[in-house]
Amino acid sequence: MPVKFTPLHQNFAAEVSTISLRETFDESTLAEIRKGMDVYAVLVFRRQTLTDSEQMDFAQRLDGELHSKTGASALGKTRLGSEAIADISNVSSEGSLLEQQDRKRLYSLGNRLWHTDASFQDPAGRYSMLHARALPPVDADTLFADERAAFDALDDKTKTFLEGLTCHHSIVHSRQMLGFDFSDEEKLRLPGAFHPFVRNLKRAGRKSLYLASHAGQVMEMSLPEGRLLIWEMIQHATQPEFVYRHKWQDGDLVIWDNRCTMHRATPFDDVKYRRELRRVTTLDLVEAPASP
Ligand code: OGA
Ligand code: MN
Repeated sequence: MPVKFTPLHQNFAAEVSTISLRETFDESTLAEIRKGMDVYAVLVFRRQTLTDSEQMDFAQRLDGELHSKTGASALGKTRLGSEAIADISNVSSEGSLLEQQDRKRLYSLGNRLWHTDASFQDPAGRYSMLHARALPPVDADTLFADERAAFDALDDKTKTFLEGLTCHHSIVHSRQMLGFDFSDEEKLRLPGAFHPFVRNLKRAGRKSLYLASHAGQVMEMSLPEGRLLIWEMIQHATQPEFVYRHKWQDGDLVIWDNRCTMHRATPFDDVKYRRELRRVTTLDLVEAPASP
């Protein structure tokens, strides 16, 4: 089936024409979606009906192996049966809304920082696929920032300088910035990972900043200088002209490329309203072909 992309922003993000992803198996359609990802980096698919296993299966067809070493899995067992399906919700294992001081809630508040999924692991996360299962009756949008456009907007001297740098990404670092406490054992399970400051997206033929609140150290610089550089570059990359705001509709599945976008949740009255989404993230291993 031909796939049509309708841009949602001047730089990136597009809505995809009607398609049922759980029934999408043919290589040519999958290749068209990959091409769309190379161009837009964020794709919105409306009205998807997916069980957890259908969502995991589709993710593997599109982009290969799944990430399962989530930060949450270092803290406790999932209520969903597989660590490859992330529980992006304000719901406890008993099915009730999480209370204000619940540790799972305090941990998930970190999603409100600009971040990339699984950049604190090696291999890092590549595509994330977030499916809306139950939405609150109030706005609870997700913001996305295009780090390719942000890189392109830098001057040549800055680009060359940044291309020589490596960052350490750690979810312990980003959560501790908010005052969230980890036990020594949890910290040992989450040592973080090293990644280049600038990523080269070979199949897409573009370069991108690769930032996140998880990035706490630039290995070639002193701690304060490196942290300031990370902070300044996150400020740069999240200016309004680089940001798309996604307003969720029932059944939306949004796919984003973590190598070249950051995202963050926005606050809503989460001790009052239920919000349930499920996320699957693929690993940044060898890229699938763009053509069948
Ligand atoms: C995620 C995430 C933001 C949101 O699923 O990785 O950061 O708005 N979600 O729920
Ligand atoms: Mn996330």
